[in-house]
Amino acid sequence: MKTLLIVFRIFMLQSISQVSSSNSQKKSTHFSKSKILRNFSLASSSYNKVAQVQEEAAHRMEMYLPFTHGKVLELGCGTGILSQKLLKKYNSEQLQISDLSMNMLHECRKSLNDDKLEYLLLDAEKLKVENEYEVIVSNFVVQWFEDLQGSLLRLFRALKLGGSLLFSCPIDGSFPQWKNACSQAALPFTAHPLPKVHDILQVFSEIASTCHYEIYEFHTKHVGPLEFLRSLKSLGAGATTCHKTGGVSLRRLLKAWRQDKNGQVQVTYKTLFFHVKK
Ligand SMILES: C[S@@+](CC[C@H](N)C(=O)[O-])C[C@H]1O[C@@H](n2cnc3c(N)ncnc32)[C@H](O)[C@@H]1O
Repeated sequence: MKTLLIVFRIFMLQSISQVSSSNSQKKSTHFSKSKILRNFSLASSSYNKVAQVQEEAAHRMEMYLPFTHGKVLELGCGTGILSQKLLKKYNSEQLQISDLSMNMLHECRKSLNDDKLEYLLLDAEKLKVENEYEVIVSNFVVQWFEDLQGSLLRLFRALKLGGSLLFSCPIDGSFPQWKNACSQAALPFTAHPLPKVHDILQVFSEIASTCHYEIYEFHTKHVGPLEFLRSLKSLGAGATTCHKTGGVSLRRLLKAWRQDKNGQVQVTYKTLFFHVKK
């Protein structure tokens, strides 16, 4: 998998207007949490076979993890790809590992095999505590939030003063090849709508002490577009607010999708790595 760094910025946030959870945009009601939960629960045994980008992103996240003796919370642990790296950096007694899906937690527990760890069945959007954690971390999770800005604000409040919130997620502008095929076939682009960096920055303006972000492009190769779409399902990432493409439209989409001479397609994940300090 090729990676390409396209942006790097470090800045103190001051100028962008602050948002509160009350005025943050919520996703449309078609997008139900129970659907997300069901898809990830069903994918818990197939996830690792197709999670190359998540693996690569977890590898990058490892480099940003700050040193601390305080409490560390992982959100949306999945099968434990990032959790394994957390366990190398922190003591088991410091760590809480959580996910929305019991099946995912179960897979994670099996892979970590550490009885001292605390596992929580937790919807990260419902975290209510304040001034509790030194580090809150998640890899490829926040794009599934129904209320992205409100939830990020709550996560920030759950940090102790000086604490860090670190996360990675695919962002708007990902899957340009898919979008291009949709436009060639005169079909709507039905990928799950992904976060915009500006919306994330807005949350932390005026409240963060420092904020860093990087955007990387990860490229995956697939034996045709259908294999890519199937891999999303195996990841549990098939949910979308949009109406899915099926039947005749799907055939038109597959036909319009540009493939190389070996029938392969490349797919680009534009991925944000975000680190904010309280
Ligand atoms: C794409 S997987 C990423 C898993 C893992 N972090 C990794 O890097 O492989 C997304 C995970 O987030 C979980 N998830 C989705 N929405 C969540 C929420 N609101 N709260 C907690 N976990 C959530 C899913 O159950 C799934 O395990």
